[in-house]
Amino acid sequence: MTHKIALLGFGVVGQGFAEILEEKGELLRSGLGFDAKIVAISDFVKGSLYHPEGLDIAKALQAVKETGKLDCYPESPGLVRGWDSFQTIRESNADTVVEITFTDVKTGQPAINHCKAAFESRKNVVMSNKGPVSLAYQELIGLARKNHVRWGFEGTVMSGTPALRMPLVALAGNNITEIRGILNGTTNYILTKMEEGLSYEAALAEAQTLGYAEADPTSDVEGYDAQYKATILANIVMNVPMKRKEVECEGISHLTLQDIQWAKSEGKKWKLIAKCIKDGDKVIAKVGPEAIPITDPLAGVSGAQNAITYDCDLAGPITLIGAGAGRKETGFSILIDLINISRGQL
Ligand code: HSE
Repeated sequence: MTHKIALLGFGVVGQGFAEILEEKGELLRSGLGFDAKIVAISDFVKGSLYHPEGLDIAKALQAVKETGKLDCYPESPGLVRGWDSFQTIRESNADTVVEITFTDVKTGQPAINHCKAAFESRKNVVMSNKGPVSLAYQELIGLARKNHVRWGFEGTVMSGTPALRMPLVALAGNNITEIRGILNGTTNYILTKMEEGLSYEAALAEAQTLGYAEADPTSDVEGYDAQYKATILANIVMNVPMKRKEVECEGISHLTLQDIQWAKSEGKKWKLIAKCIKDGDKVIAKVGPEAIPITDPLAGVSGAQNAITYDCDLAGPITLIGAGAGRKETGFSILIDLINISRGQL
């Protein structure tokens, strides 16, 4: 059966995902039996398109590349233009809504309301937005279950690196007692560059130019981005209904070149560490800078890379290293959720 998809948002992640479907569609069909088509795109700035039989992805990508908008996408019988996000959710024939709009991480909107509308319309949701998962997980998962639909959000922690599916699927049966991770690429890039002698300000400017930082980099450097991800890990991997405010948070903006030099002289490296530690029935979660010994696997993770260590009672400590952001990588996180939904798997 063809999996019909509605994209809410057609920015970097949406286009990255569309490119993957365009490049690999045939291989996914023949190799995995995963047959998907995009029936709708609704973007607040670029415009919107809906065709129940499916859109021509190459033409939609070309329209945006050439004009920044979807308006010059060619006419065809049955094509509908101008639907907003809620009309797209409620009235399209999509099986799954891919929610990749810009999310306000303080309120989680509009993505939380998009999720609610989709679940109530009996549509699955796949997203890389951290807002809804970190702010409203318990409510939204309840709504998805009540409506017998699925919610995928692998891309919210470490983009396409399987930081969520690995513990949930590959490590199932273990008691994961502790999670420690470098979950923010911007701060890891800044700390790596400061070790090379660059000032904090210059390193942050480089991270912004390279596109690692959030629109407001305060979220990165004060640890909030990692705090959202730690909240997600506590809820999803450790299964406790934790709220963001319960995760202690300190950023790296106060670290000086002297602090970096001191760590070096002690055989250590500063890293912004997010952790969740089981304490009986409770979980203690926090984010903050730590000077860790260079023998720690996390110390070797440099630049914008992310990493996470799961302490498992059966499998021992397992560290996963990979990208934490990126057009293709986050596009892939959307694809893998869709593949697993169509397989009926987690
Ligand atoms: N600003 C984030 C980071 C992007 O630097 O890791 C991915 O969430």
